[in-house]
Amino acid sequence: MNNPEQNKKIENLKIPAHVAIIMDGNGRWAKKRLLPRKLGHRAGAEKLRQVVRWCADYNIKYLTVYAFSTENWQRSQDEVNSLMNLIIEFFSKYEDELRAEGVQLRFIGELSDLPAKSLEVVKRAEHDSQERNRIILNIALSYGSRQEIVRACKLYGKALQNGALTSDQLTIDNFSDFLYTADLPDPDLLIRPGGEQRISNFLLWQLSYTEIYFIDKLWPDFSKEDLLQALAEYSRRDRRYGDAR
Ligand code: FPP
Repeated sequence: MNNPEQNKKIENLKIPAHVAIIMDGNGRWAKKRLLPRKLGHRAGAEKLRQVVRWCADYNIKYLTVYAFSTENWQRSQDEVNSLMNLIIEFFSKYEDELRAEGVQLRFIGELSDLPAKSLEVVKRAEHDSQERNRIILNIALSYGSRQEIVRACKLYGKALQNGALTSDQLTIDNFSDFLYTADLPDPDLLIRPGGEQRISNFLLWQLSYTEIYFIDKLWPDFSKEDLLQALAEYSRRDRRYGDAR
């Protein structure tokens, strides 16, 4: 928070409680530099590290990022392995920093699909961070939103079967309790860098009233100024939630 110009800008902004980000463009970032894709993901992970710090400094309470989709398993074995290893490395290397920054970690997605070592590392990182509360970093891994909704329906079916809930009692709120994001508020702002303008099976239910901000810049190039621009745009938006005001 050492740039006075940026500090001044943030003072006048409406700060969203929950920001979600689709971290897109790592592969193209690497290609432009004639580097292997895995180095693009590495640069993307470093960017995530910075963005967590900026968001915490701006008092954003929740940050949810799309790190690996259900569909990403179809990428080359080499790329999948490098992403899985990057996850292991990241949480070992930055454990102290994440603690010092007060970052509580949560992971959403079909975590049982992860290789044993990656699963062990994320579970431990999550467990060890539960007392921290400056910012909650929610990382989607092996995540697909349609899959999440089907999983929620199955859990709801079980609740029906065991009598915990009748069909008449089902509401939007208690259906949300069956999602991975049960105890998180819905995102206020979704940022998608990388130039594509789509949601890509990310938080379909939770994004119902989220403001969306697309930016034509690759994720590793995303800057603090870009974050400020996104927050400025969010501040200007009029959120009516379907109301005619
Ligand atoms: C999409 O860009 C990005 C991914 C599939 C991976 C995102 C992962 C990270 C930023 C690293 C996360 C690390 C940790 C520790 C959570 P793409 O590869 O599809 O880019 P392209 O569209 O340019 O090919």
